[in-house]
Amino acid sequence: MIAVTGATGALGGRVAARLAERGVEQRLVVRDPSRAPQIEGVEVVGGASYADGEAMRRGFDGAETVFLVSAGEDRHRIDLHRNAVDAAVAAGVERIVYTSFFAATPDTAFTFGRDHFHTEEHIKQTSLRWTFLRDNIYLDYVPFFAGEDGVIRGPAGDGRAAVVARDDIAAAAAAVLTEDGHEDAAYDMTGPESLTLDEAAELLTEAAGRPVTYVRETIEEARESRTPSGAEDWEIEGWVTTYVAIAEGELERISPDIERLTGRRPMTLADFLRENPDSYSHLGAS
Ligand SMILES: NC(=O)c1ccc[n+]([C@@H]2O[C@H](COP(=O)([O-])OP(=O)(O)OC[C@H]3O[C@@H](n4cnc5c(N)ncnc54)[C@H](OP(=O)(O)O)[C@@H]3O)[C@@H](O)[C@H]2O)c1
Repeated sequence: MIAVTGATGALGGRVAARLAERGVEQRLVVRDPSRAPQIEGVEVVGGASYADGEAMRRGFDGAETVFLVSAGEDRHRIDLHRNAVDAAVAAGVERIVYTSFFAATPDTAFTFGRDHFHTEEHIKQTSLRWTFLRDNIYLDYVPFFAGEDGVIRGPAGDGRAAVVARDDIAAAAAAVLTEDGHEDAAYDMTGPESLTLDEAAELLTEAAGRPVTYVRETIEEARESRTPSGAEDWEIEGWVTTYVAIAEGELERISPDIERLTGRRPMTLADFLRENPDSYSHLGAS
């Protein structure tokens, strides 16, 4: 039995649906069961916040494998992940499949990426067999890089990112969760192309039928332009350094892993925009 966390969210929900298609026994371990996908014959355990180790242990009880979706932005995210991992160990789980981040190192420019490195290290120190899916930036988010004014602003310079669709990550996750041979392995989740933000703006211009442009900010300008959001410094730093990681080439490399795992070429941004016109509705249309 596979315990699926994050099933009320975009990635976990897609993974749960794919496991259901494969007829695999699963349990959805979520905070709010009323928002969990309704899948016939699938048990839902609620009240499972990563902050509550005992609730997580109950949710994982009897599971052989846990699909652990990384928590939302949180100053204490590493602790939340450690709690969830330790709960899996306490529940007697054998394997964990964790959604990490591309090029997660202790000193990656992307400050939130560091949480993933430390989570991976923690998992490796347990008795669990592990598989890490190291996700590049979600392609699904690229339209939202641009505000309603059609401008992408950030300190990404001329760097590139091999952005990846959540659907493709979900397909890879379903393969890893249901097939043998992925123990103690890390896979890089990228799309089939690596884009500059100028190229992303061009694709958005074509799709939306209105000009979308990319304005290069300095790191200081990026911090200032995000200050009116009212977010705390650590959070603004995470947002800004996503772009810095692009500028520094950390997110550029294209990986064959999704195609190897799923047998299908992952989506490009153009494919995604064609199939998901709602994704850029905030940009208006011609
Ligand atoms: N690669 C990227 O570009 C990128 C971008 C953004 C985020 N991410 C990471 O990827 C993860 C999955 O992405 P997504 O698109 O599926 O995000 P999402 O739609 O926001 O879903 C996140 C899921 O994780 C659950 N969750 C978050 N924090 C939790 C906690 N402390 N305890 C228990 N459950 C928690 C949420 O539960 P609730 O529904 O109860 O909130 C939700 O089910 C995100 O959580 C984030 O860590 C990656």
